[in-house]
Amino acid sequence: MILVVGGAGYIGSHLVKELVKKEQVIVLDNLSTGHRYLVDERAVFVQGDLGNRADLDAIFEKYPIKAVMHFAANSLVGESVIKPLKYYQNNVAGTLTLLETMLKYNVKNFIFSSTAATYGIPNVEMITEDCPTNPINPDGRSKLMVEQILADFAAAYSLNYVVLRYFNAAGAHESAEIGENHNPETHLIPIVLQHLLGQREKISVFGTDYDTPDGTCIRDYIHVTDLSRAHIFALEALLDGKKKTAIYNLGNGLGYSVKEVIETCERVTGRKAVIEYTDRRPGDPARLVASSQKIYEELGWKAEYSLEDIIASAWKWHSRNVK
Ligand code: UFG
Repeated sequence: MILVVGGAGYIGSHLVKELVKKEQVIVLDNLSTGHRYLVDERAVFVQGDLGNRADLDAIFEKYPIKAVMHFAANSLVGESVIKPLKYYQNNVAGTLTLLETMLKYNVKNFIFSSTAATYGIPNVEMITEDCPTNPINPDGRSKLMVEQILADFAAAYSLNYVVLRYFNAAGAHESAEIGENHNPETHLIPIVLQHLLGQREKISVFGTDYDTPDGTCIRDYIHVTDLSRAHIFALEALLDGKKKTAIYNLGNGLGYSVKEVIETCERVTGRKAVIEYTDRRPGDPARLVASSQKIYEELGWKAEYSLEDIIASAWKWHSRNVK
């Protein structure tokens, strides 16, 4: 059985929908940001907290867990600056309790959702996993701390782990039954689509004076379905014993500016956006684009979906869920 912590969240629920086809799955989620309806009905669902020993003991005592996938960390850069205690409490202390419980029950396989924010402001075109990690906000720092804990636990307790550093996750499941539903929403693609559906008056573009060709920030957008596939590749590598420890970037390898994303949304939906240009949002690096060559070479994974595919799938989901 595979324990998916945070399996009612955006990325976790997409992984669960695929993983239930291969494995028995139990989801633990406190529903602080996730939604019960996103969890595939083939999975066992437990409402509880990764930092609560009683919640964890109840699961590990009852079910034979062979691996844990951890999606339950908080991940909003801006919020992390204002509420660092929340980030260190949940992302670091909570994860430590989860890891401690795994060791107690001799569960040794762990997959951790990390972030491109661990790199800070990189000075390379394509970020590889060996680039320096100098996070500039508590979100990135808390994820990097967990990565460091994992390395120490691997050395001392033979914990096997894969760290997946996501770039910008977007898109929805092909069924359009599940998709991105944050409240409040802060991410670019859902905000643009909500605007194009008439749910927002306009879109704000945060900064036009970056050192990029059109002056707006460049990001690497990766389909949530591609992220799910990468988790399944990583799980198989751990369970087969092919990998003991690994860190991989998950991106498309293509950078799109904020303006290009908005234009692509307009093209895919056939609608025109009202745009307001505002000041920079604090903490935004100008460019974050991944090299995902390492996971391709070691596990054979590469992104299959384009920006158009991502936006088309998200549009289908948002259109169905228009209130
Ligand atoms: N943006 C706008 N207007 C908006 C929303 C976003 O201009 O209304 C811009 C942002 O300034 C940024 C880009 O669009 O330049 C993408 O912003 P998102 O908020 O969609 O995503 P981020 O790049 O800030 O962050 C996401 C995750 C982080 C992760 C990062 C990795 O939330 O956890 O991707 O690339 F670290």
